Amino acid sequence: MPEVTKEGKNFYLDIPIQTPGFFLKGSGSLDWGMKNRLSRIFNPRSGRTVMLAIDHGYFQGPTTGLERIDVTVLPLIPKADALMLTRGILRTTIPPTLYAPIVIRASGGPSILKELSNEEIAVDIEDAVRMNASALAIQVFIGGEFETRSIRNMTRLVDLGLRYGIPVMAVTAVGKEMARDAKYFRLATRICAELGAHIIKTYYVPDGFDTVAASCPVPIVMAGGKKLPELEALTMAYNAIQEGASGVDMGRNIFQSDAPLAMIEAVHKVVHDRLKPNEALELYKSLKSSR
Ligand code: R5P
Repeated sequence: MPEVTKEGKNFYLDIPIQTPGFFLKGSGSLDWGMKNRLSRIFNPRSGRTVMLAIDHGYFQGPTTGLERIDVTVLPLIPKADALMLTRGILRTTIPPTLYAPIVIRASGGPSILKELSNEEIAVDIEDAVRMNASALAIQVFIGGEFETRSIRNMTRLVDLGLRYGIPVMAVTAVGKEMARDAKYFRLATRICAELGAHIIKTYYVPDGFDTVAASCPVPIVMAGGKKLPELEALTMAYNAIQEGASGVDMGRNIFQSDAPLAMIEAVHKVVHDRLKPNEALELYKSLKSSR
């Protein structure tokens, strides 16, 4: 018991003040607000996240599985560590009482009918503050027709985010004609990190994903991509985590599953507890049959 001074105060002179580090890769030098927002997205216990992506409508319209977000997606939100969406869906459809940190889609412009890399910043930073955004997401098209514009959008958004303590997630978009290999993703993720992105969303590649994660100095979250059979999707998530991803940002492989709630719970176990893919599939099946 430390000695109490004459004035009746206790300064705990025998306990040095701690200077704790920060759990997230590459984020130790960020400001308090940034770290606090990142700690809402990434679980400090595991250091990882299961982000649910439902932003597809910003260029695809009512994608299969997202025709009625109020009916199909709201029940999933309590199982997600974070929700990636547009401000339109947030304000029209998501009750503010639902607890989930939000990652706002902040780029847009072209639809699927046009050149997708021709995007602009689509959200004002003050509106991001009003919505209590935990992060902003923006597409970056390395090798795309409007590569420089998309990079400029990202660096502008990073500058705005830094002003208000809001992290930026760069989403690496791959053109149809480009090779989806480790070499490409090392290039794309590293450019985004070098130019200031705080989180990078990128695709898994079976050969060399560990080198993508190793050469990217900020957290990587694995993009889900098109719908796969459940075991393949769970295996992909498991491998990405084993090879250095800090979580997943999955959409169609969750909301297009036969049992979306069971699937997000299985993904959660894979990401946070490293549950093996076959065991996660069994969990998925038993949750599916019990509902
Ligand atoms: C990428 O272009 C967008 O962010 C998507 O709308 C979405 O995040 C993709 O999610 P998934 O590929 O897992 O369906």
